[in-house]
Amino acid sequence: MANPQLHPLEVNPKTGEPFLRLPAHKNIILTPPRVSDGPFLVSIMNDERVYPWLTFPPHPYLPEHAESWLNRVIPETEKLLAELEDARNDTTLKIVDGCPARVIREVKEDGTDIFLGEIWFGLSRHWWELEGSGKASQETPRRDPNDPDIWMVGDYLASSHHGQGIMSDAFNTLLRQWGIPRMGVQRMVVSTFEGNKGSCRVFEKMGFKFRKTIDNATEARGAMRGVHVLEWTLEDEAKVADK
Ligand SMILES: CC(C)(COP(=O)(O)OP(=O)(O)OC[C@H]1O[C@@H](n2cnc3c(N)ncnc32)[C@H](O)[C@@H]1OP(=O)(O)O)[C@@H](O)C(=O)NCCC(=O)NCCS
Repeated sequence: MANPQLHPLEVNPKTGEPFLRLPAHKNIILTPPRVSDGPFLVSIMNDERVYPWLTFPPHPYLPEHAESWLNRVIPETEKLLAELEDARNDTTLKIVDGCPARVIREVKEDGTDIFLGEIWFGLSRHWWELEGSGKASQETPRRDPNDPDIWMVGDYLASSHHGQGIMSDAFNTLLRQWGIPRMGVQRMVVSTFEGNKGSCRVFEKMGFKFRKTIDNATEARGAMRGVHVLEWTLEDEAKVADK
């Protein structure tokens, strides 16, 4: 029997892999990362419509960069799945620090799927995300109801699939179905490089409010970049819904 702690993830009966299907894009699923994702990562991370908007990928992005990324995220995912397995018989759903399904894949008619990108939540660490919160740093989630942790999202999608509403659907689904109920996310402060209209639009559609733009906030691949900072709280969202 599938582990009830995976809820609301489903389990692929053939592979045993947990997944989350996007409601508005039924052929798109989120799954754990796989060792075989390397060549897709290399292709997407060298795409001029993707990597300039991200901080982390080196350029050119080589197979060893993909390997080192997967060597980080696969064990993280396995740890989460092991925690959920250990809690299999608990009567309440366990709160965990991440979602094991973070890779966006398109399922083809023959049942095979292709890697399209990633989306994940992590604790905000940049000073411009923590500014004004009274927090100097965040190492692990504290889940203090009076002082919610500040979460960020990391995301990217293959440019062949931009502008189809996939990331908005993925973000909304991951936040509502896993982030809030299974990670305790109540507050998010996110940032995008200045001029990233597509990313800002995804946040705005999710109800994020623009906070500020900071010029020359950070360096990526040898160039200084400004950032737009946006924020969202579950509390504010509930107030708007009540009106
Ligand atoms: C940002 C990104 C994840 C968005 O994914 P996506 O699936 O294309 O996003 P969606 O289709 O859900 O929504 C994009 C929105 O931005 C709008 N948009 C995209 N490019 C735009 C531009 N240059 N100017 C204005 N609006 C733009 C789209 O029209 C859409 O809004 P709409 O639904 O109101 O029409 C994707 O473009 C990407 O991977 N970019 C490169 C990496 C990146 O920027 N990651 C985020 C780092 S913070």
